[in-house]
Amino acid sequence: MLQFEELAELMRTRRSIRKYKPDEVPDELLLKAIDLATWAPNGGNRQPWQFWVVKSRDVIGQIADAVDSRSRLMASWPEAQAYPADVERWNRVSSFFRSAPVCIAVMVGGYESLADKLMMARGESDPDARDMLEWRRFGASRIQSIGAAVQNLLLALHQQGLGACWMAGPQQAKGEIEALLGVPPEFEFVALVPVGWPAEERSPGPRKPMDQVVKFVR
Ligand SMILES: Cc1cc2nc3c(=O)[nH]c(=O)nc-3n(C[C@H](O)[C@H](O)[C@H](O)COP(=O)(O)O)c2cc1C
Repeated sequence: MLQFEELAELMRTRRSIRKYKPDEVPDELLLKAIDLATWAPNGGNRQPWQFWVVKSRDVIGQIADAVDSRSRLMASWPEAQAYPADVERWNRVSSFFRSAPVCIAVMVGGYESLADKLMMARGESDPDARDMLEWRRFGASRIQSIGAAVQNLLLALHQQGLGACWMAGPQQAKGEIEALLGVPPEFEFVALVPVGWPAEERSPGPRKPMDQVVKFVR
């Protein structure tokens, strides 16, 4: 069994990497990481994920164009004028993945647990069912499952010396990305993970002290 310190080292040294060398990333390394992603805990063991490995420069470029275009649209809204620094940063960085040799598009499939089905069948008329459905939707099991898988993926890529970044931002162009990739209706695009050999070294951002994030209820 892995020593705790080895696991801690792997977890603590993983960083979001946004600059990549142009060198090819072998499929074999990607597949090893995706295999470990699929060992993540997931609601009902439904494994509601697919990992689409995009290596086509043309397709990555088109995804980046779609994300850029949505960033520019948001930047053009009068409401955005109150946040000039953020808008400038978006416009600069929202499609940094354009230069990545690989982008893994993470898809989530529909999954309704028996509890969800019961609550929906019970309907809006029952206030208990309505509350329970709303609470469960907030932390949707399928989205939590994707989170666990993406973290496994990132750690496995990092262990192999690869750099990657978990990106929810491209969801702003979900419609265009799904159309471009030909995603079938039973799946939805939920995150993009650009991957490549790191061309930057990043020091970790500060983490909140333990006393701000832990509460024991004894
Ligand atoms: C759900 C999620 C969404 C994220 N979306 C983006 C994104 O759209 N663009 C980006 O550059 N980084 C994104 N990140 C990366 C975070 O900015 C990064 O994890 C955080 O700043 C901590 O840095 P570290 O990963 O190097 O420890 C995302 C991370 C998570 C977990």
